Amino acid sequence: MSTKAVILVGGDTRGTRFRPISLSVPKVLFPAGEKSLLAHAVDAVIAQPNISEILLIGFYENSVFDNFLAQVNREHPDVSVKYLREYKAMGTAGGLYHFRDQILRGKPKRLFVINADVCSSYPLSELTAKYDESEANGVILGTRVAKGIAANYGAIIADDNGKVLHYVEKPEESVSTLVNGGIYLLDVSVFDVIAQAKRVHGDEHAGNLDDEDDDEDKLSLEQDVLPVLADTGKLFVYQTEAFWRQVKEAHSALVANLLYLEDSGAKNAVWVDPSAKIDPSAKLGPNVTICEGAKVGPGARIRDAVILPRAEIRANAVVINAIVCSGSRIGRWARVEGSPISVSSYESTVVKDGVKVPRVAIVAHDVAVADEVHLQNSVVLPHKDIRNDVRNEIVM
Ligand code: GTP
Repeated sequence: MSTKAVILVGGDTRGTRFRPISLSVPKVLFPAGEKSLLAHAVDAVIAQPNISEILLIGFYENSVFDNFLAQVNREHPDVSVKYLREYKAMGTAGGLYHFRDQILRGKPKRLFVINADVCSSYPLSELTAKYDESEANGVILGTRVAKGIAANYGAIIADDNGKVLHYVEKPEESVSTLVNGGIYLLDVSVFDVIAQAKRVHGDEHAGNLDDEDDDEDKLSLEQDVLPVLADTGKLFVYQTEAFWRQVKEAHSALVANLLYLEDSGAKNAVWVDPSAKIDPSAKLGPNVTICEGAKVGPGARIRDAVILPRAEIRANAVVINAIVCSGSRIGRWARVEGSPISVSSYESTVVKDGVKVPRVAIVAHDVAVADEVHLQNSVVLPHKDIRNDVRNEIVM
């Protein structure tokens, strides 16, 4: 059965919680181990049988994905992978509707729809098996989260067979700890539901022309489509026990890095791009990704960190619970340090001396941190020269 995939990549007016990292790398291209968040999703889809095409839909400029697409299309010449750009943010179902003709070209029977901002084992074969055995018209990946945070996600209420009885996006109070993991396999008849939602939106908009926030083209898969699919009695959930995490801000990106590195079985949970230059006396790991062209000097210590392309960590510097963006330089004996990251915590801040401070230390791109400087629980914006110690601060 022919299957296509749509991966929702968002755009740069979203993902603001990922600033200042997103000023140099779009969130979905942030590296977690050997590859970016987006590449983890694309490779998982490509590993499935009968995939004819993968469409990335977002509202970033086209050039953002040029290198990524060139590489995937080189490595997988048999699958077409393309980027379709929305002329504005259309929501998680608006882009599907807008590009429906292109998506349905070649008459696929069903569609993987994937939010690119998740970190997951991508159990797509299990999703497909659930779809087939349930005679479903849609399967959602579900995952259990703690009750205290469940209201931040889409709540799924299902029976013992996984039939979704009720779906509600970000309910005011937690109604279920089984939540939407942002990965779906849907029958193409979902386009009928989206078209219906579009008509309803159009009617509402016509009566609401003065409201600037009311955007006729914006449709939400979670709010406008999933509740309707649930009412058909043919929407099912596959509950994963494997790792899953939404990537929203720096702390969750470091958790994603940890989860993918652990899953890959990489030695000491470290991945170093072959073009990076690491002095043999530097100590790396666990949970460290070092990207292309980066340099790490003698005696440096790096743990729970991502070092982006061409950044330089000089001799005896320490980088822990931190992200160092492209082209930045951390001086000799300098120390860039956040608070411990934790898979079980969802807090992007920690409280120090009664004040909330950033949990992860972030050095944006093209920053110079001078020798011996200590930078703790702080965020430094691009192009800065840091010559004095910085604690619990955002350096603008
Ligand atoms: P927030 O908490 O508001 O961020 O919502 P959320 O966590 O439910 O995520 P959201 O629904 O905003 O996004 C889910 C996925 O869809 C992410 O991968 C986004 O990048 C993507 N996305 C969100 N809005 C759009 C959009 O307008 N167009 C496209 N193409 N993708 C989008």
